[in-house]
Amino acid sequence: MDLNLKNIHQKINKIYLRAEKDYQALNKKQISCQLESYKNNYVKINGQYQLQKYPIPVISLQNGGDIGYNLDKIFFETAFKRDEFLNLELVSILSQYEDIEIYGGRDCHKDFYQKDDNPAKIREKVKESTENTIMVSLYFDYNKEDLLDRVINFANKKEAWQNKSNVTSEISYDAYNHLSDHYFNEVDTKPYNAYYERPATLSLLPPVKNKKVLDAGCAAGWYTDWFLRQGAEVTAIDFSPAMIKMTEKRVGTRARIIQADLNQPLDFIKDQELDLIISSLTLHYIKDWEPVMAEFNRILKKSGSLVFSVHHPFMDFTVFDRDNYFATELLTDHWQPGNKKIEVQFYRRPLNQIISPLLKAGFQIEELLEPVPTEKFKEADPVDYDKLSKKPWFLIIKARK
Ligand SMILES: C[S@@+](CC[C@H](N)C(=O)[O-])C[C@H]1O[C@@H](n2cnc3c(N)ncnc32)[C@H](O)[C@@H]1O
Repeated sequence: MDLNLKNIHQKINKIYLRAEKDYQALNKKQISCQLESYKNNYVKINGQYQLQKYPIPVISLQNGGDIGYNLDKIFFETAFKRDEFLNLELVSILSQYEDIEIYGGRDCHKDFYQKDDNPAKIREKVKESTENTIMVSLYFDYNKEDLLDRVINFANKKEAWQNKSNVTSEISYDAYNHLSDHYFNEVDTKPYNAYYERPATLSLLPPVKNKKVLDAGCAAGWYTDWFLRQGAEVTAIDFSPAMIKMTEKRVGTRARIIQADLNQPLDFIKDQELDLIISSLTLHYIKDWEPVMAEFNRILKKSGSLVFSVHHPFMDFTVFDRDNYFATELLTDHWQPGNKKIEVQFYRRPLNQIISPLLKAGFQIEELLEPVPTEKFKEADPVDYDKLSKKPWFLIIKARK
């Protein structure tokens, strides 16, 4: 007998035994599924999709998706409708599952993912195509121990991802998902935050002990943690799921932490529920301030305070060399945290477009701060200290309902 054929025979026996074992394990976990075998599908062999000539065992999960047993790898393949796929939190999927394929079309001829593509790039390729069904396959080595748990986790989350419609803004969404580690590990001690924005913002806050506070745009949770340590009851929101995880990592269950887009109604917060809203360096990612200011006003108690910091309009106008001060416009910046390169977009607007939505929503402005850097900033970065002592970078406003 041909030795190769004998090898293949042994391998096929082995994968059928493995599929049966997994099928029993899934039954034990009370996951509804069926054990079948497929052939004449397209599978990726040596980097190329080819017609699969031998039947392979497949476990079909009732809540969507198939676990297939190739000779070399086990894969989990699941389908998304085009719109669902475009709404997926691709950042967290790509970071949790290393070996992944994203494709569409009959015979899998449209490959939407090359290693190192970022979510924006993948979405762009899908948008350019006319595919209505986008397939995602996760590949695992046969010896991957928690394979079934990872597949079940993905299948369970799929439903939540499909229903994800609460984030409507794309402005810097991917950027902040990529920046979450950096925020968690580095930003606490960055001079622009630690020795410039934060001391100035904190100087405007009323006493917060036993007060109900919203941290709107909490990022990795520095302010959330600070408020908790002062004895406040905190709700923290951010549209980035990766940032939400970082805030959870920092403060655990001590705060109410919710993924939410500030462009949408904050209907999980009751009318006049809060004493204070803080929004640090976040509102410049929002184009239209009237709805968000109206929401802030709705959820604040009478005489409650709103304190927020944003880019100073003078700074954006000069640094980005704009020619129309009165325009509200989307600008693109490039940040290089560590060895990453990240494109961050935000809105620049004139001072009157910062003030008038506030007044229109019913706020009174109590203080307006153009901070100067602290002595500690000077020690950490004398060159930028000199610059910030002459040119305002941020603007901080305290308003009362
Ligand atoms: C510069 S960071 C905030 C820094 C943070 N306050 C601190 O001091 O560490 C801006 C944050 O705003 C969030 N963000 C941007 N646009 C948002 C939106 N539309 N809704 C909610 N959060 C948003 C980003 O995900 C990011 O975490």
